[in-house]
This record gives sequence, structure tokens and C-alpha cells, in this order.
Amino acid sequence: MAMRYYIETFGCQMNDLDSEKMAGNLQHGGMEPADDPSNADLVILNTCAVREKAVQKVYARLGELKRLKARKPELLVGVVGCMAQLEAERIFKKAPYLGILAGPQKGHVLSELVTRNRTTQTAAVDLRRDDDPEPLETPYILRSSPWRASVTISEGCDRQCAYCVVPLTRGKERVRESAAIIKEIESLAAGGCIEILLLGQTVNSYRDRTAGNLTFAGLLERISKIDGLKRIRFMSPHPRDFSDELLEVMVSCPQVCNHIHLPVQSGSDRILRAMRRGYTRGHYLDTIRKIRNAPGDISISTDIIVGYPGESAEDFQSTLSLLDEVQYDSAFSFKYSPRPDTAALGLHDEVPEEEKSRRLEILQERQKRIQSGKNAEYLGRTVEVLVEDRARSRVRLAGRMRNNRIVNFDGPEDLIGRIVQAEITGFSPNSLKGIWIRPETDGEVHPVPDLAGCTASTN
Ligand code: 5AD
Ligand code: SF4
Repeated sequence: MAMRYYIETFGCQMNDLDSEKMAGNLQHGGMEPADDPSNADLVILNTCAVREKAVQKVYARLGELKRLKARKPELLVGVVGCMAQLEAERIFKKAPYLGILAGPQKGHVLSELVTRNRTTQTAAVDLRRDDDPEPLETPYILRSSPWRASVTISEGCDRQCAYCVVPLTRGKERVRESAAIIKEIESLAAGGCIEILLLGQTVNSYRDRTAGNLTFAGLLERISKIDGLKRIRFMSPHPRDFSDELLEVMVSCPQVCNHIHLPVQSGSDRILRAMRRGYTRGHYLDTIRKIRNAPGDISISTDIIVGYPGESAEDFQSTLSLLDEVQYDSAFSFKYSPRPDTAALGLHDEVPEEEKSRRLEILQERQKRIQSGKNAEYLGRTVEVLVEDRARSRVRLAGRMRNNRIVNFDGPEDLIGRIVQAEITGFSPNSLKGIWIRPETDGEVHPVPDLAGCTASTN
């Protein structure tokens, strides 16, 4: 009987995609998916290390898996991803029963690691990094959705933000050749995919030297010419590299969604400098002004860290005033979490934990009010929604507007993966509530493609 695997993903969209690559590799190697860890022969935890909280979640999970392993000694458990890259020793101490340990971007060798573990009966470890750049072309990806897909355009990061472990875990920036990216997206679109999310740590630093130094904006323009795509998104641009050219492409290509996630991290110049972000508040706000003045009603979201070492009450006030000034459509905010081997780790003047929590709460309250005000403007409007899934309540559907706003409404499940119209009847800070407008003809509705066409897609 084929070995059965189960992958648990922690962290960001990049990890979701890495898990699809791992599943593709395992399935190509003859394994089958299990519907639950207790039915699996192989459990993989694909981990995140960006904050200590994410790391603690994995350790808690490893504690649970230890009990499962005790009941089922032949179970093979693996830890892969950023946390594995960062703290292998600590992981083995906590979970000496591990059979596999590998860093991020190891989807293409996972089957090999399983075989190595089986033949040697010892843990198979792969933590190679810059000295052995991983191939960016992944031959097998087991896509979890037939109508939307994430596509890697670059891996790693050349910036050195003082708080961030990503350059340590994912290594230096490597970009995929545009020809390969376009080929992959063409094949996805031909299989019925209508939404593409382009992924890179700092997508807009993309340059393809094999194609006349093609920029990210140029790549986006080429992708927007691919037949069948309805929505193109990207994550995340860096404020320092945000070009007028990119904004022009966003405005002129209707498939490119009118949403920009532009992480600011702090509103204080002093803290931005300490974080080594490479821009000032003034420079960031200039970019925001350009985006707000551009046609197409582009929505803007951000990431913010509170309680960075040395963040004074005044610095924090600067971040709050930045929220007021920008009027973000949404914001992800985090308490600063010291990370191993980062420049910020050595800094004194830590903000006490309770103060970090207090600042986070104040910031989130302020942002909630801003979002409620913005969402209220949608009452009574008819909007275009791509239906993504059942909503949290399980009786409703949840979809997204082009500008990334979530809309919940009642409707049949076969709308999932389709673009529909909804009338907005309610709102909360984080989402809109609507009524599905049944189309008079079927002309506007995109058929849901056959799932079989999108599994294990090769690129
Ligand atoms: N502590 C808290 N938040 C962090 N982020 C990255 N590193 C840290 C850290 N050490 C946040 C940043 C980044 C997002 C993905 O995670 O806001 O944009
Ligand atoms: Fe981390 Fe900064 Fe690179 Fe983003 S740009 S991944 S925050 S180092």
C-alpha cells in the first residue's frame, strides 16, 4: 500500500505554496494524501519563524505528535521550513524522534529525504543554503484550488531589516526567469485558473537579466496579456522600490487587482532608521499620495510592528498619526518579537511586554475605526466578488472584491470559484455582508474548471 502523507502549514502564503510543492513531490514519488494525521505514515510540519509565537505553536504541535508517535512507532515526522532552518538543534532536543528536518524550498527533495530516512534509519537532514542555491523551477505542484494559484517569482531577500529572520532562513534573493513564470501561468490559465497571486519576499525588486532586465512592472504587464486570467495579485512590494512604472501598469491593466500591500512597519523616522528599512515616513507618504491620486480606487494595506526596541511613546504616536493620515483599508499589526541572529537582537532598551500589548491594542482599535468608516461607504453598492470558500459560519459563502475586501453572503456552494455580483447590506471592520445578485443570464459567470486538470501541474 502507498505511504500516506499529511502536511500541516504554518505561516504565510509562501509556505502554503511550498506545501503544494511538497505535496506534488511526494505524490510524484508514489505517496497518497491522508485525510488526518492519525491516518498518515508521514506527517510534515511546514513551519514559520518570523515571530516566536509561530515557533511556539510548532513546539506545542510537536508535543502532541510525540504522543501519536508513541502509539504508532512507525510514524515518520518531519519539520521543514524557516524554523527548521533557524533552530535545528533546539528542535531535535524537543523532538528527538524526528525523521526529517529540512529548510524552506526543499519541496523538490522531500521524497528523497523520506527514502534516505527509511534506508539509513536515522534522521534525514537538509539545511543547505546559499552555497547550494535551490532550483526555482519546481516540476510538480499539487494545486489545492482549480481556479486560483500562487506562483513564485523570486525567493529570498537581499534586504537586511534589523528585526527579520527571512534573509537568514530563505537566503539571498534569486529570481525566476520570466519565460518560465509566464509559461507556468499560461498553463494554469489554460487549465481554468482565473486568479494568480505572484509571490516574492520583495516582488518589486524583480529583474530578469535574461530578458533585457525586465522589471516587475514589465513582468506584470506581460502576465496581464495571458488569456483567461481575471485577477492578478502580488505580495509584497517593498516601499523603497515602488516605482511609477508599477503604478502605471496597475492602472492600465484591468486584470491587475486594485490592491497594494505596502508594509510600513513604523511611522517614526527614528524607528524606521533603526529597523534599516531604507525609507523615511515622508518618502513612504509620497508613494501613498501617488497611489491615492491614481485612478482605479486602489486599496492599501500594511504591516506594522509595535514595541521595537527603543520605541518611545512619541514614536508610537507617530505610527498612530500615520494610520490617520494613510487611512489604510486594512492592517496587520504585531508586537515586536526578538529573533535569533538578527541585528535587532543585540539592542537594549526593550519595550516591556505589557506596554507592547497596550500599544498593539490601541493601534488595532484605531485601525478598526478607520476600517469601519471605509467599509460603511459600501452600503447599498453592488460589487464584484470572486467567491472563495464557505465563510467561517459554514452556512455562508465568503469572497473577495478586486480591492481585497471580504464579502460574506448566502448562496449555493457551486458559486465557489466564480465571479458574481453582490449588493452590500452590512459591514464590520474586517468584512462586508451582502446579498448575491442572481444573474439573469449565465454570460457573466465563469464555469468552475475541472479539478483534475490542475493537480500536479508541471511548469
Ligand atoms: N517581530 C514582529 N513582527 C515581525 N515581522 C517580521 N519580523 C518580525 C519580528 N521580529 C512582521 C513584519 C512583516 C510581517 C510579515 O511580519 O511586519 O512585514
Ligand atoms: Fe524581512 Fe525586510 Fe526582507 Fe521583508 S524586506 S523579508 S521584512 S528583511
